[in-house]
Amino acid sequence: MDPLDSLLDEAAARFAAADTPDALEQAKAAYLGKQGLITERMKMLGGMDPETRKAEGARINRVKTAVEDALNARREALREAQLAQQLAAEALDVTLPGRGHGLGGWHPVSRVRERICELFAGIGFVVADGPEIETDFYNFTALNTPDDHPARSMHDTFYIAGTDRLLRTHTSPIQVRYMEANPPPLRIIAPGRVYRVDSDATHSPMFHQVEGLWIDRDVSFADLKGVVTHFLQQFFEREDLQVRFRPSFFPFTEPSAEIDMAWGDRWLEIGGCGMVHPNVLRHVNIDPEAFRGFAFGFGIDRLAMLRYGVNDLRLFYENDLRFLRQFV
Ligand code: DAH
Repeated sequence: MDPLDSLLDEAAARFAAADTPDALEQAKAAYLGKQGLITERMKMLGGMDPETRKAEGARINRVKTAVEDALNARREALREAQLAQQLAAEALDVTLPGRGHGLGGWHPVSRVRERICELFAGIGFVVADGPEIETDFYNFTALNTPDDHPARSMHDTFYIAGTDRLLRTHTSPIQVRYMEANPPPLRIIAPGRVYRVDSDATHSPMFHQVEGLWIDRDVSFADLKGVVTHFLQQFFEREDLQVRFRPSFFPFTEPSAEIDMAWGDRWLEIGGCGMVHPNVLRHVNIDPEAFRGFAFGFGIDRLAMLRYGVNDLRLFYENDLRFLRQFV
């Protein structure tokens, strides 16, 4: 039998046995390559007489086309198999539960801020705020602290070069902004970030204060003591908490006092307060003969440290989740 007759079956079998594209291309070479069986048969056509060459040439071409078809079919099959395998390997199981992102929680300083505002809201204070980038006027001048006033050096201020702006050193400028925009009587609580050139275990260049202000026709220092004491007792959930008002100085209050709180066997300073200075009221066109009131400022971070027993302020700002998770 002419080997050409069995060549197609043989080639198809070898192609089927090739299970990678490389093996398939090698099998192809045995038939269609330069020295492949079909190529060799073609070369023999030259020595034949024209009649035989014509018939034989047509036969070889048919076989060659059939072998090429078989080759292409196998190539396609291998490509599909490879794709199927890749898809299986990369498959996503959409029925698996998601990893989730966790619920998150309040930062301890934010919790304390919210708690402070809530307690003051309970006695009629509304929440106010103001810009962290302030003008010299609101941060100092309007608070009765003129340019050459020594009290300015009590605050190590971050100035913004080439402007009259600075990072507010306290929340007190909110008093001025609020009184400018709202006629008395008024009662506000104003928490926010403040900035000073200062950094150690109990001082951070950025920290938080909360300002309080109550202006009406007949507000006294006794009211100040009552409100502040009531707040601290509620905040620390201790009806017997001792609070002390120690005479002090602030340019924007007269008289002024430091607020101290009994803690163990010590007194801790946690804020300042006083009766709003008449000059501050005059700056915002409130008649000091008709209205008066008190103001106070607490360190929120300080209250948070005491409430949670944290001894290093910097822990609040490192964003170490092992620390923060304890408060959630
Ligand atoms: N602003 C003061 C400070 O940062 C704190 C303060 C003292 C605020 C007395 C007041 C106040 O409202 O009446 O040191």
